[in-house]
Amino acid sequence: MSRDAAVVRLSERLRTARRVTVVTGAGVSAASRIPTFRGAGGLWRNYRAEDLATVAAFDRDPRLVWEWYAWRRELVRAARPNRAHQILAAWSRRFPRFRLITQNVDGLHERAGTENVIRFHGSLWEVSCRDECGRIPSRWPHEKAFDELPPRCSGCGGLLRPGVTWFGEPIDPGVLGAATEALDCDVCLAIGTSAVVYPAAGLVTGAGALGAYTAEINPEATPASGAVDAVIAGRAEAVLDDLDRLLGAP
Ligand code: OAD
Repeated sequence: MSRDAAVVRLSERLRTARRVTVVTGAGVSAASRIPTFRGAGGLWRNYRAEDLATVAAFDRDPRLVWEWYAWRRELVRAARPNRAHQILAAWSRRFPRFRLITQNVDGLHERAGTENVIRFHGSLWEVSCRDECGRIPSRWPHEKAFDELPPRCSGCGGLLRPGVTWFGEPIDPGVLGAATEALDCDVCLAIGTSAVVYPAAGLVTGAGALGAYTAEINPEATPASGAVDAVIAGRAEAVLDDLDRLLGAP
């Protein structure tokens, strides 16, 4: 099926859908000039995300890991939500039940005004105590730039860590529960994710197994491409724009 025919068919599914769930990845923020992890520009000082986003990497060199996060925080601070974020924000108010599960920690969906965001991997704009010293709540917002890296926990004097879920760490049970519940839907879209990091990569096929119509929007094929009902090869901001136009006024 051609890209245009797949877009028209998906728009027809969306027109009658009441429960829509969208799973996003770094590709949705690409048009805001935030580099994806596995695409061009994804390396930082020659490190891959897998080399830095682990407890072991943090314990080995907390300053290095914090420098990476501080760099990303400033990149995102200077960025603006793009057309893909804006359309998904409008859809969060358009459908009777809409859930957005994002692997992105940049907060651009929230800045675009999206309702019902499930932050699967946490947030760049939160921190927690590395040693879980007992300060309540366990994660808290910290949006200002840090005076010194690595930043220190005011509760125990130990190290603060970014409020994101790292490789090898479990997804927060409340977040996993909300995401699992969202898979019971009419249409489920995977947008801008390479579908290689689990458990996030299994969400869309999980929705398909429960009966949802599933589609992938990505300029490149992924391991999930063979398991969805429709593959739309294109950039999120362009395909969502086409879909939104076909849907017309709410
Ligand atoms: P990746 O960097 O692995 O994949 C980004 C995907 O976006 C690729 O499949 C690209 O083809 C696609 N892409 C690029 N530009 C696009 C555009 N304009 N529109 C749509 N798609 C586009 O990013 P994620 O799948 O999000 O985890 O990575 C998953 C996780 O790995 C991240 O959450 C992060 C990372 O390490 C943690 O930090 C734990």
